[in-house]
Amino acid sequence: MQVKKAVIPAAGLGTRFLPVSKALPKEMLPIVDKPTIQYVIEEAVAAGIEDILIITGRNKQAIEDHFDRSIELELVLRQKNKNDDLKNMQQISDLANIFYIRQKEPLGLGHAVLCARQFIGNEPFAVLLGDDVIHARVPCIGQMAEVYSQKGNTVLGVQQVGWENIHKYGAVESDENPGSAVRVKRLTEKPSREEAKSDLAVLGRYIIDPDIFSILENTAPGSGGEIQLTDALNTLAGRQPVWAYTFEGRRYDVGDRLGFLEATIEFALRREDLAPGLKAFLADLKLDQF
Ligand code: G1P
Repeated sequence: MQVKKAVIPAAGLGTRFLPVSKALPKEMLPIVDKPTIQYVIEEAVAAGIEDILIITGRNKQAIEDHFDRSIELELVLRQKNKNDDLKNMQQISDLANIFYIRQKEPLGLGHAVLCARQFIGNEPFAVLLGDDVIHARVPCIGQMAEVYSQKGNTVLGVQQVGWENIHKYGAVESDENPGSAVRVKRLTEKPSREEAKSDLAVLGRYIIDPDIFSILENTAPGSGGEIQLTDALNTLAGRQPVWAYTFEGRRYDVGDRLGFLEATIEFALRREDLAPGLKAFLADLKLDQF
């Protein structure tokens, strides 16, 4: 079965990014000149996903405005003959069929995904977390959809993050030798370094069997007092195969200040219009003056 729908949870308060996230949705922070959430939506669209549900909350109107048409802006760009800009603006509102639902209380990622139940119905679906922006030759969720089409079960996008970092992630345990796709034995949300059985972390990309919804309904709050998607996936892994697929690509944690800066610099270095100037600036930078 083809993956046609995606869920993007974007209800978080962005406390790791205060003060800017006080009034501005953190998903709207730009990497160079594009909001982080647009990169994530473009990844889904590039994988053939047509219908996208964004789980929002209060203070998130800017996201809806961004993916809507801006008639006034289009008019001005047309009058000024700025045809490339006009085309780019129209492309944003034509990217995909985007739907919105509010998560009324911040009860955790698992609860946010449960809010998508009616929208998804009974088909496999993708989940893409906005804090994880991934630069890859083949879009990460597209790589995973390919694995899904071979295996027919839930697929988690993973990479090794080092033992010193595993406490920040959903950690994957497997009996199989590391390989591109291994069967998941157990999942633990944010284990301590001592508890962790591997440094293989789920990095914000999932293709999930709809059986997850009945599990989520009965999942008790876990790490941080929140209903965790990882805990529900752990239950799912006890009932049917769940695969951890090591995707190809560079992932940035754009919900973190340093990760955000890394993304900003590397994405700018990949742009023909900015690379020469930025490279010259970086080469001249006297790092010992800071
Ligand atoms: C979430 C998930 C975690 C996953 C991480 C990836 O955690 O709960 O399992 O590894 O995203 O970025 P958060 O970063 O929202 O605390």
